[in-house]
Amino acid sequence: MKTKRNSMKRLLILVAWTVCVAVYAQDMNRQLFNDGWRFLLADKTADYSGTNVDDSAWRTLDLPHDWAVEGDFSQDNPSGTGGGALPGGVGWYRKTFTLDNNEGKASQKAKENGKKKAKNPKEFKYFRLDFDGVYMNATVWVNGHKLGTRPYGYISFGYDITPYLHLDGENTVAVRVDNSDQPNSRWYSGCGIYRNVWLTALPQLHVDTNGVYVTTSVNGITTDKNGESISTRTTLTVRTTVRNEGEKPRKAKVVHYMHDPQDKYAAKSDYAFVTVPPHDTASVVQTLTLSDVLLWSPESPHLYSLTTNVIGNSGGVVNGAKTAVINGLGMSLALLTGVGFVGVSFKDGYHDIYHTPIGFRRFAFTDKGLTLNDKPLQIQGVCNHHDLGCLGAVVNTTGMIRQLTKLKEIGINGIRCSHNPPSPELLQLCDEMGFIVMDESFDMWRKKKTANDYAKYFNEWHERDLRDFVLRDRNHPSILLWSIGNEVLEQWSHADADTLSLEEANLILNFGHSADQLAKEDGEMSVNSLLTKKLADMVRQLDSTRPITAGCNEPAPGNHLFRSGALDVIGYNYHNPNVADVHKNFPGKPFIITESNSALMTRGYYRMPSDYKYMWPERWDKPFADPTYSCSSYENCHAPWGNTHEETLLLMKRNPWITGQYVWTGFDYIGEPTPYGWPARSSYFGIFDLAGFPKDVAYLYKAELTNDTVLHLFPHWNWGEETYAGEGIAPSLLDENGMVDLWAYYNNADEVELFVNGESQGRKSKGDGLDSLHVWWRVKYAPGEIRAVSYKGGTIVAEAVRKTAGRPDHVVLVPEKKQIFADGRDLSYVDVYVCDKDGNICPNASNLVKFSVSGPAKVVGVDNGSPISLERFQATQRRAFYGSCLVVLQGKRGEAGKATLTATSDGLQGSTIELPCIDLSEGSGK
Ligand code: GAL
Repeated sequence: MKTKRNSMKRLLILVAWTVCVAVYAQDMNRQLFNDGWRFLLADKTADYSGTNVDDSAWRTLDLPHDWAVEGDFSQDNPSGTGGGALPGGVGWYRKTFTLDNNEGKASQKAKENGKKKAKNPKEFKYFRLDFDGVYMNATVWVNGHKLGTRPYGYISFGYDITPYLHLDGENTVAVRVDNSDQPNSRWYSGCGIYRNVWLTALPQLHVDTNGVYVTTSVNGITTDKNGESISTRTTLTVRTTVRNEGEKPRKAKVVHYMHDPQDKYAAKSDYAFVTVPPHDTASVVQTLTLSDVLLWSPESPHLYSLTTNVIGNSGGVVNGAKTAVINGLGMSLALLTGVGFVGVSFKDGYHDIYHTPIGFRRFAFTDKGLTLNDKPLQIQGVCNHHDLGCLGAVVNTTGMIRQLTKLKEIGINGIRCSHNPPSPELLQLCDEMGFIVMDESFDMWRKKKTANDYAKYFNEWHERDLRDFVLRDRNHPSILLWSIGNEVLEQWSHADADTLSLEEANLILNFGHSADQLAKEDGEMSVNSLLTKKLADMVRQLDSTRPITAGCNEPAPGNHLFRSGALDVIGYNYHNPNVADVHKNFPGKPFIITESNSALMTRGYYRMPSDYKYMWPERWDKPFADPTYSCSSYENCHAPWGNTHEETLLLMKRNPWITGQYVWTGFDYIGEPTPYGWPARSSYFGIFDLAGFPKDVAYLYKAELTNDTVLHLFPHWNWGEETYAGEGIAPSLLDENGMVDLWAYYNNADEVELFVNGESQGRKSKGDGLDSLHVWWRVKYAPGEIRAVSYKGGTIVAEAVRKTAGRPDHVVLVPEKKQIFADGRDLSYVDVYVCDKDGNICPNASNLVKFSVSGPAKVVGVDNGSPISLERFQATQRRAFYGSCLVVLQGKRGEAGKATLTATSDGLQGSTIELPCIDLSEGSGK
């Protein structure tokens, strides 16, 4: 877990999963540095790094920001459809600010009083600027001084800016972001400072960046009276690295306090003393013991909180421990140009406070399966890329909570951060909401997959990037596995994708390699195996508490990564048929399906016969075409290297020793529109579409993985004459005999009966579920109504009805969250449906819906989940896609009131809703 200095203390998830928003507690030391930047898209050669640049005509914006998602899709954009067909280029960001620092004030006062130096000014003397992620090649200057360039677009990085700051005057930060050498990614990366930026002010003696490392030893696991898993004896070991940026050696006193999930005091460490040399660090190790600790798991993600105090006396003598007294939390978000740090009264000298959320759990990956807190558990996780659909790569906590909530509701319990370090907020949410994370570092090592990707920088940067990645993330309880790479070409001896187009590179990865590309059986390690071992050893040295794996699409033991012996857990991407040989090929090794399925679906589109498998694309080296640019939402279409969702669920059911799967993917993402090319520009793999609407298969997971009663009948009942397909909609067609296949996913019942216009079509059962996880009927279409009824022991459990919808009549707006916090970040996603006069959703409607907002909110994105729509994401109108679309509203910072959203559409009755915007900030009176 990213241990944060008094910041984002604990993210509060307000009101159940469905209606929630995050509130961060901030402190005097670390603050968001997102607001009031200037931005310019520039030419590659331009230089705006200096202090005397006139940026007054540049656009003003708040970070995080992604300029690519603001652009138009074009076949000419060098990212290609694989990269989302959105623009790249070079962007400059500048921000001018002043520091309202105590040192400045104290020195000023001293000067006024005729003294040379302020006495005990209680100042902050060390300043850092930290970037959670910039895509890519970010060069940073402070007051014209170049601090460095960081190529990797997903890594967090930062700089000590103390020597270059004007404490009493104006400062300028300039950031050049270069994403012009394309293609450099197999999916949509985004462009710009797309994650948060932080300014941290500290005393000279402080906890070093990522300077707290916590390991836990959980013993005596039992169940308490509420049925919760607890540990009767837990030891926490904390290594604290203290940094001294002063000129003399300094003595520090370190003490830790532990609070339980209810924020009640739970334990305290002993005091430890350490002398830290000037401009250097020193570490201390302490332990805390606790009893009856509530354990962390996906169902009960209990989090404790560790507060680390570093106390140093200016004279080097430590006088006992007193907690710092915070004089006030005055550094408000409203300060756009000035950055104010409030004072801290250091009664015993200088004091630094650092918070680390802690989750206690015990887990083991073995060849017999995974146990968490001594109970068997299979990870039913999903892979996701980082974009949030129409928001692009911009990090947004509400957007991430929305995705995680939807996944949680269908029983998903894991996230694979594919294929790169995620935002710190995502990991924090996984800790809070209970997801088992496979944290992944790279999509490529030395061998490139696209012309300008990270392989270019790997040799120079991999050690630094891998180290920073593990140091940042290693306290997160949600992470149970490290992955050192995804489908790296070093699995084989001579596999190069260099000469291929991005689209071909995406496909060839999975279309097989010959046996002579594998490791030799002579016992000698290849260069590729040695590299695997080097990376794994590096991770292990920084964190030995978690196993290491890699996503491998070469299942043979001769894969150079396997042959290295350095992977603790064998991870396969796809290759379900090879799973049977895992124990034989890798005796004693735990196994995980690091990536599964690659099933393809367009929400709302169905292609019969539903019991025929479409394996698309048919070849990797030939463009695949189908005039619909759609994939069937019966579970009957998948990539040739993959399989259906049902197949992997069944494989997992039959083989409890498989520790888990991560489905490719939870949500559709921008880019990689396999099996198609232009105009397709986003993926078809998601359980949810790009706008976040569930595809039918979401209900399969809900039925199989949760206890909530499910009966999901599909598809719609608008066929033949009543198809009414609008512009841009590929209609699903009846078969030549006028028949339709109807499927149902269900649970908590023995059988399901289908009625077509009141007539029973018989009862069906998925039996013991070892053949398929759905029931289906082929029936004659006649407009009217279909109804499914599920029964248990003859009693009705659930009913599902679909009616033939009439012509589009009106628009319905359904806000997923009924209020917006006026912090300038929170969102409300509003689902938009085109309905007939009786309120049935028109399943093939594509009416253009226009949005307007009055009051303190604005539209920040629109979408409809179509992988082929070339409409802009940043607009105030959107066509419905198979009956629905989405508009995303954001509140304005500090502006409370009522936002009114109106939707209109030619020929339809419009709709208006009101959303309260609530200001919870300081001074708002709330
Ligand atoms: C995998 C790869 C993913 C994605 C997927 C599409 O081979 O790891 O990044 O490309 O295929 O099926």
